[in-house]
Amino acid sequence: MRGWIVNRPSYIPPVQVGEIMRATTVVRVIESQHPAHPVGSFAVGMFGVQEYALSNGTDVTRVDPELAPLTTYLGALGMTGMTAYFGLLDVGALKPGETVAISGAAGAVGGVAGQIAKLMDCRVIGIAGGEAKCRHLTEDLGFDAAIDYKAEDVRRSLRRHAPDGIDVFFDNVGGAILDAGLINLAVRGRVVVCGGIAHYNDEAPAPGPSAYLILIPKRARMEGFVAFDYADRYPEAMERISGWLDAGSITNQEHVVHGGIEDFPAVLAMLFKGENTGKLILAIE
Ligand SMILES: NC(=O)c1ccc[n+]([C@@H]2O[C@H](COP(=O)([O-])OP(=O)(O)OC[C@H]3O[C@@H](n4cnc5c(N)ncnc54)[C@H](OP(=O)(O)O)[C@@H]3O)[C@@H](O)[C@H]2O)c1
Repeated sequence: MRGWIVNRPSYIPPVQVGEIMRATTVVRVIESQHPAHPVGSFAVGMFGVQEYALSNGTDVTRVDPELAPLTTYLGALGMTGMTAYFGLLDVGALKPGETVAISGAAGAVGGVAGQIAKLMDCRVIGIAGGEAKCRHLTEDLGFDAAIDYKAEDVRRSLRRHAPDGIDVFFDNVGGAILDAGLINLAVRGRVVVCGGIAHYNDEAPAPGPSAYLILIPKRARMEGFVAFDYADRYPEAMERISGWLDAGSITNQEHVVHGGIEDFPAVLAMLFKGENTGKLILAIE
């Protein structure tokens, strides 16, 4: 969302000043002439930050609150889950038994990615800000180790927890944390460039990673991706993730703030202060 309100070319045009802020939302249908979306049903789509939206049904998916709580369709069964699933399994080409490190690990995408990696019998190291979030990773989500980047030297801690190197570094943060991951890559390691939240608010271009030349001796690969590119394969990911949710092998972590439209800017800003654990959702009642 932060990237959508910067006036520079990206994978999708920026939201213009005065336009409705783009957002994926779960909505209740209150009036309908569409047979697939009767009044009282629920749907997920890009309805934006507004109390009421009008749609012709294109790119709108009906969702069933009996199958999963509605907020899960924004979290583990939404963009968040799709990003974690395809980022880790396709872009990262994760194999069972490998060592994975994840930055932004206590956030929405990071928490799902770590839990999926655990299901693949991988060793999973999470990087997050603060003791409470680190405890959440190891105690609630089953991570093997957690590094508090606010209190520890990430480069050294990664070396300690992954002495043979990191096979997949799933990066949500960028900057110095990305460098710490690069330095600790295993031979033929892969860096999944999911996001770079540490620099989204910078006024000037962020300094490049200083450790990227390590990709040469490690024969490693660094690759960015956009989850939307996998839209054709969302059903595959939804089926597997809902199976894991139903079996209790992963949990949907969410942080719901109840409020009104006017609270949206302040809620968005919480992401940049680390004030959320799991998927941050604004619920408008
Ligand atoms: N490639 C794609 O298709 C795709 C799709 C969706 C999202 N993304 C990206 O994935 C990343 C995670 O998104 P999300 O929705 O799951 O958000 P999120 O991780 O739930 O929330 C952001 C978290 O980032 C951490 N953070 C904020 N500023 C930081 C900084 N300066 N240094 C280190 N950590 C910082 C905070 O956790 P701490 O308390 O641990 O600092 C915060 O809770 C974002 O970079 C997003 O842009 C990419």
